[in-house]
Amino acid sequence: MSLGRTPVRILMLVLAVAVTGSFAYAFSNVRKGYEPRQPILFRHTRMAGTPVWQTDATGAKVNVGGFGIPCVYCHTMPYKGRHSTVPSTAVCMNCHTSVGLGREWVLKMKDYWDRGEPIPWVKVHDLPDFVYYDHSAHLNAKNEKGEPKIPNKDAQGKPINQCEACHGKVETMEIVSVQNTFNMQWCLDCHRKPDMKAPTDCIACHR
Ligand code: HEC
Ligand code: HEC
Ligand code: HEC
Ligand code: HEC
Ligand code: HEC
Repeated sequence: MSLGRTPVRILMLVLAVAVTGSFAYAFSNVRKGYEPRQPILFRHTRMAGTPVWQTDATGAKVNVGGFGIPCVYCHTMPYKGRHSTVPSTAVCMNCHTSVGLGREWVLKMKDYWDRGEPIPWVKVHDLPDFVYYDHSAHLNAKNEKGEPKIPNKDAQGKPINQCEACHGKVETMEIVSVQNTFNMQWCLDCHRKPDMKAPTDCIACHR
């Protein structure tokens, strides 16, 4: 698309919205809390959560918490591209050809795999197509001191997951839900923060 047409597209967008009277929608929070059921009960708590070791009745040590698999093992793209991507079943099968084979949901996953069908994961976050958003631009942005603008440590210097700024603590979720409004106001509120210095002109997000 040529740059010259972009302002026209924005004007069209504004007009379309003015006509349908849905401007309020841009500032509403219909998304926050959205928590769709998935075809397989994939629990981030179990796969990405922190391990919790307990001794069972036989005296053996068992992990009743999570396996702490790093987010980017499965969501391989957020530092490299626009989208984060949800993993293909092949990623799951790296482990699940041998692990957890007695489990109901693992068996269901293997059924999809054996049939050669992708698991029909339901999208949790899905912005309209007229919005431009890029994960890598956010996660790689640095301030003058060379520190990431999206924080990777808290006030005490303890490391935090950068994904948290927008998605919350996914590793503590049985079912992923939308943690923020993900509307225009929310994007702008963060962009206007002095330590973010991120663009607020229409063209940045509507190109
Ligand atoms: C073992 C693989 C795996 C790991 C590790 C993992 N995820 Fe996921 N993630 C998935 C799968 C599969 C889905 C799709 C099913 C679902 O939404 O629960 C998903 C969904 C998501 C979604 C919602 C995607 C959408 O449709 O909008 C977000 C956000 C997310 N993960 C963030 C994270 C974060 C943050 C971490 C690290 C703390 C993480 N994930 C670790 C596999 C993984
Ligand atoms: C600055 C806010 C922000 C941060 C930080 C962030 N995300 Fe996202 N994420 C979004 C937005 C906005 C969307 C919706 C994109 C869309 O629908 O086009 C999204 C969507 C996703 C999705 C669904 C697939 C996609 O790309 O549309 C996954 C999976 C995901 N994020 C994982 C992650 C992981 C893992 C991290 C940390 C490494 C992370 N995100 C950090 C804002 C963020
Ligand atoms: C790095 C190895 C690894 C990867 C990759 C992996 N898993 Fe797992 N998964 C495990 C282990 C270990 C267990 C625990 C098995 C058990 O409890 O017997 C497990 C358990 C499970 C369970 C049952 C436990 C529960 O109650 O939550 C499901 C469902 C599951 N995984 C789905 C997935 C899906 C879907 C993917 C791909 C998106 C995936 N796993 C990727 C290692 C992995
Ligand atoms: C937690 C804070 C935060 C939130 C929330 C956020 N952003 Fe950003 N955004 C940033 C930062 C930081 C930058 C990078 C500024 C720089 O250093 O250039 C940025 C840059 C951008 C850019 C310019 C870089 C590029 O990719 O071309 C776009 C476009 C953008 N954001 C869109 C969005 C949209 C759309 C949303 C809401 C869905 C959003 N952002 C939510 C912090 C945020
Ligand atoms: C930082 C990113 C960002 C910037 C800058 C931005 N927008 Fe948006 N805008 C969004 C997002 C995200 C949505 C989608 C809201 C939703 O679907 O909830 C949106 C939606 C809209 C809509 C549709 C509203 C509706 O009812 O769905 C219009 C019109 C709009 N923007 C106009 C503008 C104009 C005009 C400007 C400049 C003054 C602007 N935007 C600047 C992120 C941005």
